[in-house]
Amino acid sequence: MPKPCPLTALHSLQFPMQLPSFSGSPVTSRSYSAILRCPPRPLIFLTVVALSVTFIYFSATPILFNERTKNQWNGTAPVVIPAVHPLETVDLGNEEVRLTRVLKEAAMEDKTVILTTLNAAWASTDSIFDLFLESFQIGNDTRWLLDHLVIIAFDKKAYMRCKAMHPHCFALATMGVDFSGEKHFMSDGYLKMMWRRIDFLRIVLEMGYNFIFTDADVMWFRNPFPQFFPDGDFQIACDRFFGNHLNRNNTANGGFNFVKSNNRTIEFYKFWYSSRDKHPGHHDQDVLNSIKFDPFIDEIGLKMRFLSTAFFGGLCEPSRNFSVVCTMHANCCVGLNRKFNDLRLMLEDWRRYMALPPALKNSRLPFWRVPQNCSLAPLQHHMTGFKGRIDGAQLTPYKLKVLNTSNFNAN
Ligand SMILES: *[C@@H]1O[C@H](CO)[C@@H](O)[C@H](O)[C@H]1NC(C)=O
Ligand SMILES: *[C@@H]1O[C@H](CO)[C@@H](O)[C@H](O)[C@H]1NC(C)=O
Ligand SMILES: *[C@@H]1O[C@H](CO)[C@@H](O)[C@H](O)[C@H]1NC(C)=O
Ligand SMILES: *[C@@H]1O[C@H](CO)[C@@H](O)[C@H](O)[C@H]1NC(C)=O
Ligand SMILES: *[C@@H]1O[C@H](CO)[C@@H](O)[C@H](O)[C@H]1NC(C)=O
Ligand SMILES: *[C@@H]1O[C@H](CO)[C@@H](O)[C@H](O)[C@H]1NC(C)=O
Ligand SMILES: *[C@@H]1O[C@H](CO)[C@@H](O)[C@H](O)[C@H]1NC(C)=O
Repeated sequence: MPKPCPLTALHSLQFPMQLPSFSGSPVTSRSYSAILRCPPRPLIFLTVVALSVTFIYFSATPILFNERTKNQWNGTAPVVIPAVHPLETVDLGNEEVRLTRVLKEAAMEDKTVILTTLNAAWASTDSIFDLFLESFQIGNDTRWLLDHLVIIAFDKKAYMRCKAMHPHCFALATMGVDFSGEKHFMSDGYLKMMWRRIDFLRIVLEMGYNFIFTDADVMWFRNPFPQFFPDGDFQIACDRFFGNHLNRNNTANGGFNFVKSNNRTIEFYKFWYSSRDKHPGHHDQDVLNSIKFDPFIDEIGLKMRFLSTAFFGGLCEPSRNFSVVCTMHANCCVGLNRKFNDLRLMLEDWRRYMALPPALKNSRLPFWRVPQNCSLAPLQHHMTGFKGRIDGAQLTPYKLKVLNTSNFNAN
């Protein structure tokens, strides 16, 4: 097996999840693809070769691997030390145990984890996922947060990619669900996938874990925790923020939220999930923006908080002040190429800011050059931007222990 080699995102991953909202005006494209540069250059080639060999090796192995990859942050360069046991299998038969273990390993002391998702259709070259991981590296005091990030993989390819570059990966297999196929945005399967995620997150809450859910096209520049409301149960970023964190007219964006595990949030996730029947053809974010006004929210006493775009900005409404920005989301963007372009520019802008002398950091000088290409304008080519959407087969209510390992055995 390859010797330890630098992990600087040689692979590219593409991420599924959360795409433009179709039903209303504030469309929020949450789809991704990207490339990450990998210094030092000569190592790229070696590592790519090493990994290709690894992948070929795994492909030839009938059973699944259990590639243990440990990230060790040393100085500024992350080092990956693979200790591979190809004959070990992914223990798909014991999902509950695996989920318990990965959450426990990744959790902070107060049982908080950071969650994002990945599937095969998006696990190819040029991925926004690489930019996502890079943002943690160049953000101010964000690198440690990677230790608490769990990547939920929906199939073998995504799982392998994850294992190759990150210590906390979870393979989610479900009866009758194949999330690896490419389907169109808002297709039946796409919607089921979105809803599946809501149900999964409810289980994480029931297991007693608080989480930040983040889309992969959210760039992390600062530790978000100091900006959360201590008394909030469910806190969510916004496409448009009207200045008051309690005003439910703020348009929520499901691509970034912080949820505490308690009876209120568990009830709320059940309610959210069950509301899909009343809003056929809509995805979780649209339904959220509708049910947030429901009296049931107040009946259960859920403390809902909307996060200011000053800290949690996006392309719909960029954070105005580099000195306080925590995250920036490539929302309000239709088209993968546009999105990739702007996210890369966003990272460049951040680097530019970080390189400024302290005296200039608080000036009005630094400002985002984004959105540059991103917009909600339709793409020239039919559905180009929606390539690689995930899709599923039948959505069965998520049950631990109910497994379909076919996603993980097919190549
Ligand atoms: C990196 O780790 C090595 C060995 O563990 C150590 O010798 C070296 O000083 C470390 N470098 C930095 C910059 O921490
Ligand atoms: C980075 O974080 C440190 C402490 O966490 C803080 O002292 C410093 O001002 C921050 N720098 C910027 C540019 O925000
Ligand atoms: C498992 O999923 C595959 C597609 O991914 C499907 O063809 C098969 O019927 C499923 N098996 C069961 C038992 O649901
Ligand atoms: C929210 O929007 C509704 C309808 O536009 C309006 O009547 C209401 O006053 C708004 N609430 C707040 C707190 O702005
Ligand atoms: C949640 O509700 C159950 C039963 O209603 C109760 O036993 C439990 O203590 C509650 N948990 C919290 C964290 O409030
Ligand atoms: C983005 O915009 C720049 C400058 O307008 C242009 O050169 C580039 O081709 C655009 N890229 C994409 C992917 O649209
Ligand atoms: C940005 O925020 C910092 C810290 O709150 C503040 O000192 C600074 O004046 C702000 N800069 C601008 C341009 O508003």
